[in-house]
Amino acid sequence: MAVLSLFRRYSQQAFNQTSRAAMSSPTLTLNDGNTIPWLGFGTGTALYGKDAENAVRTAIDNGVIHLDGAQVYRNEESLGAAIAASGKPRSSLYITTKLEKVPAGQTVHDTLVVSLKKLQVDYVDLFLIHFPINHEQPLSTLWKQVEDVQKEGLARSIGVSNFRVKDFEAILPEATVIPAVNQIEYHPYVFKADQPVIEYMKAKNILPTSFGGLSPIVRFKGGPVDPVLTSIAERLSKTVGKTVTEGQVLQLWLKTKGIPAITTTSKAERIHEYLAVQSLPNLTAEDVAAIEEAGSTVHHRQFAKFFDD
Ligand SMILES: NC(=O)c1ccc[n+]([C@@H]2O[C@H](COP(=O)([O-])OP(=O)(O)OC[C@H]3O[C@@H](n4cnc5c(N)ncnc54)[C@H](OP(=O)(O)O)[C@@H]3O)[C@@H](O)[C@H]2O)c1
Repeated sequence: MAVLSLFRRYSQQAFNQTSRAAMSSPTLTLNDGNTIPWLGFGTGTALYGKDAENAVRTAIDNGVIHLDGAQVYRNEESLGAAIAASGKPRSSLYITTKLEKVPAGQTVHDTLVVSLKKLQVDYVDLFLIHFPINHEQPLSTLWKQVEDVQKEGLARSIGVSNFRVKDFEAILPEATVIPAVNQIEYHPYVFKADQPVIEYMKAKNILPTSFGGLSPIVRFKGGPVDPVLTSIAERLSKTVGKTVTEGQVLQLWLKTKGIPAITTTSKAERIHEYLAVQSLPNLTAEDVAAIEEAGSTVHHRQFAKFFDD
């Protein structure tokens, strides 16, 4: 009972702090003053190493503006082809790419210039260090170079991905720019393990963005969160007068907490399902607490397993 009230108190706090921004607009404001659309469409996971042009075209044609690419996905050309073919003005899209690693004799600038060429754009909205591990240089040196590409105008915002507290501690003492975001695996089955880095980021005004958010229904089905999602989905369906799915409840959990959702799909109808979350009412503090109480009883991480080291 004491544990439940602790979760309720935490969630109530998170909900109160984020609900206004999350409800009034599908964008969130970063620590550099730029905004990031809440829903992002990724070209990794299901599209990793594959031609993403058709999937991205479908996403853009159906109203997605935030596109999440990466050098390591080996499909930046096809993301760029979809962007060009969409005919959308550059300023109407939000494009992210991520640094894989810097090849010997090159700089971060060199790798980003290659990415921009593939993406057929002059700048990205967000440039992230994809992983804190397996780099030749110290992370602080790498971050300095990322700061430089922002100064050059090649990236509007800069940030990191899969960073733990110790990785932030490696870059922040020498940093002149605080990372705007940390893109991490975030869903109810890693919620508890991610809490230390989430708290650290909150203190530094670094926004978490989530990937793998649908993991409880896609990768770890049958877990303790399932009945909670179903019950909330049934109640919300009655409230709004149309079907609300368990996946939408998971994304609402993120939205209620003010955390952008980076997801993906091969299906146009699922894009509509994702976009519809933006106009659904936020979860109650009790809903958030119930999801987190159930989620925290098990731990399942799908990606970047080193995160738990
Ligand atoms: N920074 C990193 O290290 C990192 C790591 C992983 C991912 N990411 C980024 O995040 C993006 C999304 O990652 P994710 O795939 O993990 O996102 P996710 O939101 O957890 O899962 C999306 C997947 O769920 C499936 N799905 C959705 N609703 C479903 C349902 N009701 N039943 C069954 N399947 C369902 C979709 O497949 P359908 O085609 O069937 O709709 C899609 O493949 C990636 O593309 C990438 O850009 C980043």
